[in-house]
Amino acid sequence: MNQLRRALLFSPGDSKKKLEKAASLKVDSIIIDLEDAVAPNKKLKARTIVVEALSKLDFGTSERLIRINTNNADTKYQEIWETASAQPDGYVVPKVEGPDQIEHISQVLTKIEAEQNQEIGTYKLMPLIETAKGIVNIHSIAQADDRIDAIIFGAEDLATDIGAYRSRDNLEILYARSVVVLAAAAYGIQAIDTVHTHLNELDHLKIDCDLARQLGFDGKLAIHPNQVDIIQKTFTPSPSEIEHAQLIISSFSENELLDIGVFELNGQMIDMPMVQAAKRTLAKASLARSMN
Ligand code: COA
Ligand code: MG
Repeated sequence: MNQLRRALLFSPGDSKKKLEKAASLKVDSIIIDLEDAVAPNKKLKARTIVVEALSKLDFGTSERLIRINTNNADTKYQEIWETASAQPDGYVVPKVEGPDQIEHISQVLTKIEAEQNQEIGTYKLMPLIETAKGIVNIHSIAQADDRIDAIIFGAEDLATDIGAYRSRDNLEILYARSVVVLAAAAYGIQAIDTVHTHLNELDHLKIDCDLARQLGFDGKLAIHPNQVDIIQKTFTPSPSEIEHAQLIISSFSENELLDIGVFELNGQMIDMPMVQAAKRTLAKASLARSMN
């Protein structure tokens, strides 16, 4: 992992004002939306706004992603050709249900990279898994292309697709959520959790973020600036977690010198998996420091 994606903020592609705001927030990633957040008759205009925003605004260290429309093959490729002129970092592809959708887009990006004299693979791809077919085909989607850095889980479309009723405890999405984490881990990519749609329930957002982190997600989608800090903090190792990780690693080194692989630390058994988790915590903490 060399890129932190703790919070990924959606910003509608037809709103210059929101894109300016998003660029100022120091959020790890910004997903400029051309899909559901943009009304059909604003979609063409939005492409121009997006290209202008990417060319003129200073996004600082924020990753710049674009979510395209995939319901119409021509539109999809036109959107990519047009917006790639402003060189975003990558594309979020909604409602992916099989590897072929990703492979086709990747071929288009390869042509664009050749035309722009860029290295092949410069543009990243992030499939959004948000339908029943997407969940059952997730293993072939996750390994469809080297451009895939992360897979993103979308609960709202999935619930509609499978006829689930959304609830506060999120039990109805637990299986699919966990499948996304497992597939991401199996293929060495990041897992990003779904949006929290209730804008005024920041306490509940925190509970939802804690659960996502506990399940193994690397980050979570955001839809409002107020959500960004809570999400980024949750997915950043806390000072006590960093201290504990350092203690595990130093104790492990001391024990290793004595050829001891398993030992007790403050009442807990420590062996290799905990050491690897501690190393990952410290790597995340160090990346987080470099982002701030
Ligand atoms: N990105 C950037 N700026 C945003 C933002 C976002 N997602 N959501 C709100 N803002 C800005 C507003 O423009 C406003 O700016 P100002 O203080 O300079 O006027 C400020 O943050 C406060 O916004 P607020 O008035 O609380 O919200 P709103 O009523 O303007 O917008 C939403 C509410 C839900 C429409 C808006 O948050 C939004 O567009 N979210 C993203 C939706 C999306 O992309 N969905 C697709 C994926 S699910
Ligand atoms: Mg959607």
